[in-house]
Amino acid sequence: MGSILNRKRKRIAVLASGNGSNMQAISDYSLKNDINGDVVFVVTNNPDAYALVRAKNANIKTFCIDFKKNIPRQEFDREISEAIKNEKIDLICLAGYMLLLNTVFISEYQNKIINIHPSLLPSFKGVHGIKDAFDYGVKVTGVTVHFVDCELDHGPIILQEAVQINEGETAQQLEAKIHEVEHKIYPLAVKYFCREELKIIGRKVCITERC
Ligand code: GRF
Repeated sequence: MGSILNRKRKRIAVLASGNGSNMQAISDYSLKNDINGDVVFVVTNNPDAYALVRAKNANIKTFCIDFKKNIPRQEFDREISEAIKNEKIDLICLAGYMLLLNTVFISEYQNKIINIHPSLLPSFKGVHGIKDAFDYGVKVTGVTVHFVDCELDHGPIILQEAVQINEGETAQQLEAKIHEVEHKIYPLAVKYFCREELKIIGRKVCITERC
């Protein structure tokens, strides 16, 4: 493996539909640490997403296509796909992006799309990972960063970190703890990707620095 200095910096796009705190965490981390990549593009389906404000404050190029505007799904997907291709993106990070990507797009960017999920997968898949774990009464939940494949919350796992649910803790307190862990491990996974330190072997992801 050549020195990291010889490798091209990765161009990162973040897809977000809401608050965008993970987008911010990745972007802040890339500015402060040498992760060999930069968040250059933020894409959203929601014109009211706070992620857009964060991106503009950080001088990151944005692209917004309003999903609610009855645009046929094929057309919507085509526009997003074209926008990303035009930016010559190397890595796509899903960060609270509330729409499923189409399978053609996923195949085109195979092993180049990653996602963060607020539970220890494969438990509590879906959009309410934190609440579902809390309501179920588990004592330990956590955060997962994984590659995206055509099945929901399913692809090979890059990093996971457990979060304890303490006696008497509220769902809101748990959520805050989960976000804190997200903001730590998502940038780390991005760093490994950008430094080309992730090797996928079947369902397993080996981080070369650790194996
Ligand atoms: C995070 O909890 C993430 O795990 C989930 O959606 C949430 C997005 O939060 N996929 P934010 O928009 O990054 O603040």
